[in-house]
Amino acid sequence: MSSTPTTERQPVSLQSERVPHRLAYFETYGCQMNKLDSELAEQALAEAGFSSTTEVSQADLVVINTCSVRDHAEHRVLSRLGVLKPGGDQRKEGSVLALIGCMGQRQGEQLFKAAPHLDIVAGTTDFIRLPELYAGVVKDRHHRTALDLSGDFDYARDPRFRSERHRAFVSIMRGCDLHCTYCIVPTTRGPEVSVPLQTIVDEVSRLVDDGVQEVTLLGQTVNSWGKQFKGEPDLGDLLAQLDRIEGLKRTRFITSHPNFFQDRFWERVRDLRTFCPYVHVPLQHGSDRVLKRMARLYTVDKYRCMVDEARESIPDVALASDWIVGFPGETEADHQESLARMREFDFFHSYVFKYSPRPNTPSERRMADDIPRADKERRCNELLAVQTELSQKHNDALIGRTLEVLVDGESKKNPDRLSGRTRLNRAAHFERPKGRELTGKMIPVTITRVTAHSLFGEIADRPADEIRKLPVVAPDYRG
Ligand code: 5AD
Ligand code: SF4
Repeated sequence: MSSTPTTERQPVSLQSERVPHRLAYFETYGCQMNKLDSELAEQALAEAGFSSTTEVSQADLVVINTCSVRDHAEHRVLSRLGVLKPGGDQRKEGSVLALIGCMGQRQGEQLFKAAPHLDIVAGTTDFIRLPELYAGVVKDRHHRTALDLSGDFDYARDPRFRSERHRAFVSIMRGCDLHCTYCIVPTTRGPEVSVPLQTIVDEVSRLVDDGVQEVTLLGQTVNSWGKQFKGEPDLGDLLAQLDRIEGLKRTRFITSHPNFFQDRFWERVRDLRTFCPYVHVPLQHGSDRVLKRMARLYTVDKYRCMVDEARESIPDVALASDWIVGFPGETEADHQESLARMREFDFFHSYVFKYSPRPNTPSERRMADDIPRADKERRCNELLAVQTELSQKHNDALIGRTLEVLVDGESKKNPDRLSGRTRLNRAAHFERPKGRELTGKMIPVTITRVTAHSLFGEIADRPADEIRKLPVVAPDYRG
């Protein structure tokens, strides 16, 4: 991703007039939190006189925002750094190369050994110091490292810095207090810190004033938000507050932990105008034995109770899960449990990952990575095949329905089509009408054809059906 400010702003030079106008280029790997962090870094740089470019060859500062969640994510960045060596054909002479984010936080100084041409390594909080780090490198050409995780992150966001006009990410907490044995995030992002309610409401209001219609609240366990504040507000209270913001049309939140939905959460959010009944709440595995070794803090039965409660209040709630295959010691029988639970809970969407041991995590230290690569591959494909079947079934049920689509713009595959997202987060494509600019608009689309992952339709001349009144999935989801 390369994010550009949505509004042209006059570059403000915080340095002397000897410093000419600088250009920064961003490449972002990893999750939505990283995308948001790149937008914040871009804002910090703009406040110091930079503007953004989408051409790496023009940039004075090249910023790579990185992910450590799996080995593969780190390898991609290392090979990208290889291509960005000075003297190569990609970078402007004398430009500064910065690596920020999770990989920086995890590997710190070691990265200068792997990539001696790096000038700056900054972590998941200190990336906000990029302007000062850049100025230092330009002055003496010595590299800089900034990895402090201990301070508060209370950087005031300028709503104009975001990659999409009509949607925005809003971080409601940073870090994570859990200790899932496979996960690097507690190391790279530190302990959980929630953002105060009023700060979030103000930020969302400013985003909405600037044209945002859909916000996605971000955090590692968003549904544990708020517990340290007076009166212990929870995610339901926050969603209710945001629902009052005029002009805001949709609110999403990722990622939830199955244990942390507060009492009556589903009942309380069900009738909120902006609540989108698509909830990402990863089960990770279908076997209690594996969940225990993962230290996920729940059993399948506990997850089942959460699903029952959710579906009692919102029968058509669309649930999405992450899955890990090939966790140390996973037997074929364990894997069969994952396949069975995927069907039982009738997931609307799934992300499936092959276990990747992360340095110094509990599973890496205590358990052998003993599942052969071919088995991981096969198990991954088997889960994906079941999810494809379920997604196809969910989408088939949408044929003939008129859904509200927030239009993102031209379809990537077909310039004659526009694409957007439904409330349930499915991609929907429809023919581009002549002479009407629809990007950023909510459009009713009647679904005429579906694949497992996409919906196709035509613009309707009547309002969208109220999606929650018409079940998307059969209520007897136990099958
Ligand atoms: N190996 C494979 N997948 C992982 N995830 C987190 N850590 C690992 C790992 N070491 C997956 C989890 C998480 C998602 C973001 O990435 O499923 O929910
Ligand atoms: Fe995001 Fe986790 Fe990757 Fe960090 S390691 S960028 S928190 S997915």
